Amino acid sequence: MARIGLLTGGGDCPGLNAVIRAAVRRGLAGGGHEFVGFRHGWAGVLEDDAIELTLQSTAGILPRGGTILGTSRTNPFAKDREGRGLEAIRRTLDARQVDALIPIGGEDTLGVALALHRAGVPIVGVPKTIDNDIGGTDVTFGFQTAVQIVTDAIDRLHTTAESHNRVMVVEVMGRHAGWIATHAGIAGGADAILVPERPFGIDEVCAHLRRRHERGRSFSIVVVAEGASPTQDTLQTRTHTGTDAFGHARLGGIGVLLEGEIERRTGYESRVTILGHVQRGGTPVAFDRVLATRFGVAAMDALAGGRFGTMVGLRGTKIVEVTLQEALREPKLLDPELYETAELFFG
Ligand code: F6P
Repeated sequence: MARIGLLTGGGDCPGLNAVIRAAVRRGLAGGGHEFVGFRHGWAGVLEDDAIELTLQSTAGILPRGGTILGTSRTNPFAKDREGRGLEAIRRTLDARQVDALIPIGGEDTLGVALALHRAGVPIVGVPKTIDNDIGGTDVTFGFQTAVQIVTDAIDRLHTTAESHNRVMVVEVMGRHAGWIATHAGIAGGADAILVPERPFGIDEVCAHLRRRHERGRSFSIVVVAEGASPTQDTLQTRTHTGTDAFGHARLGGIGVLLEGEIERRTGYESRVTILGHVQRGGTPVAFDRVLATRFGVAAMDALAGGRFGTMVGLRGTKIVEVTLQEALREPKLLDPELYETAELFFG
C-alpha cells in the first residue's frame, strides 16, 4: 500500500476531475492505496495544503469541469524562491508520508515533474491542455471539448456574418499550436485560419478576403489562434505586458487588431469575438471523459509498476507510457496535412 499525491497545475481543463476520480478508484480497488490531493497545483505541495481523496470525496465529479483540487501556475523552481522549492516539497511529502506523485498538467507542471523525478521523487505525469500541444500523446483531454465549443460559436457567428455582410474574426486559444483553430475552423467552415505555426501576412489575408467578396461572397469567417503572429512588422501584436511564473507572455488580443486592420484595409465591416476561457469551461464531452478516465487508470498502473519519470499518453487507440523527457522535448505542432485540408475550403 502506498500514499499517493495528486495535483492539478496550470490552466483548468475539462476532464481534470475525471482523471482524479479514475486514479483514486483504480488505486483504492487495485491495492488499497491512499490518496492526498494537493490544492492549487505545486502551491499546495510547497505550502502543505492538501485534502484526503476518498471514494466519497471523488464521487459525482466525473462530468464536472474545472478541478476539485484547484489549480495555479506556481513554479517551485522560480528564481525568487532561491532554491528552497525542492526542500519544501520534500518536507511536505515526508510530513504527509506521500510515497509518489501524479501531477496532472501541461508543459510547465510536467517540467517541474521531470525536475522532481531527476531529484529522486517517484512521479508519473498526466498530460493536460486544451491546446493539444504536448508531445508524447496524439491528443490531450479537454481538446475535443474546446473544439466543440468553438465550432458551436462559429455556427452561431455565421448567422450574423451572413445577415450583416460582415467579416467575423474569432479568436481562440492556442499558444504554440493551432490545433483548436484548425479543427474548429474545418468543422465550422472558416474562410481563413491563422495559426502560430504559419506566420501570416496581413496583406495576403486582406487580398484573400477581397477575392472572396469579389466572387460574390458577402461575408467571411476568420479564425485566429491567440499565438498567431504576422510575418511583417505591420501589426503591433503584443497587447498585454508581464509574464507568468514560468516566463510565458500573457496572450490575447490579436483578434482585436485583426478586426481593425481588416476593416481599415478592405472597407468590409468587421467584428471580433474572443472566446477566451469559455473554451475551457464547463462539462467535458464524452471523448474527453473517456480519455481522462483511461489516463487516470494508466497513471496509477505506471506508478504501481514503478515506472517513474513517465507520462501516459494516447497513440492511435492505445494508451502508452513515454518518458517525461521525451514528451517535453518540444511542443507538438500542427500536422501540415490537417492545415492543407483546411486551406482547400478557404475559397
Ligand atoms: O495552456 C492552455 C491555455 O488555455 C492557453 O491556450 C492560454 O494561452 C493559457 O492557457 C491562458 O491561461 P490563463 O488562464 O492563465 O489566462
